[in-house]
Amino acid sequence: MAQRVVKPKTNLGPGFWPVTAFIAVLSAVMVYLVETSPLPIGLIQAGAPADSIDALFRFLGAVAAVIFNIVVIYTIYFGIVFARPKGAPPNTIGVQIHDAPVLEFWWTAIPTILVVILSIYSVKIWADLQNSQGDVLTVEAIGYQFGFQFRYPKVKGLVNEMHLPLNTPTTIHVTSRDVIHGFWIPELRMKADMVPGLINTIRVTPTVPGTYHIICSEFCGVAHSAMDQKMVIESQQAFAKWFARQAGGSGSSGGGGTAIAIDKGHADAGQKLFGQKCSACHSVGPFDQKQVGPGLGKIFNDPAHPKLVNGDAPTPQNVAKIIQSGFQGDMGVMPSAQVNQLSNPDIANLVAYLASLSKK
Ligand code: CUA
Repeated sequence: MAQRVVKPKTNLGPGFWPVTAFIAVLSAVMVYLVETSPLPIGLIQAGAPADSIDALFRFLGAVAAVIFNIVVIYTIYFGIVFARPKGAPPNTIGVQIHDAPVLEFWWTAIPTILVVILSIYSVKIWADLQNSQGDVLTVEAIGYQFGFQFRYPKVKGLVNEMHLPLNTPTTIHVTSRDVIHGFWIPELRMKADMVPGLINTIRVTPTVPGTYHIICSEFCGVAHSAMDQKMVIESQQAFAKWFARQAGGSGSSGGGGTAIAIDKGHADAGQKLFGQKCSACHSVGPFDQKQVGPGLGKIFNDPAHPKLVNGDAPTPQNVAKIIQSGFQGDMGVMPSAQVNQLSNPDIANLVAYLASLSKK
């Protein structure tokens, strides 16, 4: 006699379909909220491709909300429905569910479709970024310890501030001079690694004028957090003016024309500034107490180092000159006063402070 196998009816508990309906409604509400909210909150879209990246971000958020609901709500529901009955021994084996082909089909098909949609969506955005749309401007961004510099076509040398003209498709090639940095402009949603010997390319089209941040997103040394630099998006006329000034000037060394009233400096104010702007790279100890650059405690009278790093005599004017125009040597790069956001009175105060140290 052939034995007849009785297939047990799949038992999903009494409330399975109402709970499923609840998940569907809750998910629909959450998807609506995610898609209509200004995500990411508080960060403007200063240009393309910020809009398409935000759309992808919201899509991901909506999908995640649905998956979260399905996983968490069913887990709670099944936990309650199939809980060990009161009084049953602790090693009771729970209800075993086998062979639910319909369920298995859908929990395979839905994630597969989702992942395929997600892949196509993100590859499309990535391809738009990689393929030139007839770029009008190409800029090179170079990271160093600790700052960013930029090379513009027809401008001799490097400039310390990035300016971009409105509505102009721009290619940015990013690289690094020393260690790996991250090039990140949050308002454009663009981020790329700056790797020595490698050029990474991103493309943007600025649409909202303003002053934004370029931030280093890769831990790169003691003053990593100081790598936060201004980026200006301006009208094409304003950009043309700025560009003409750069092309006419001598690049990173700047004009350097304005005299600094060295004797008007205050050591107290200089000490405070030193703590904010210099102490990440310089100690106030002797020359050899290096952090990135040399210790500056004896800069004006150090028999072991009678000259400044640039070979000049240690006079207040020459120290001010280095602070103003920055310096690049075997210890690394010190950004200019413009990058460090130091005014001429600031420089005078710093020189006064350094002079007071050397007198001790
Ligand atoms: Cu450069 Cu962090």
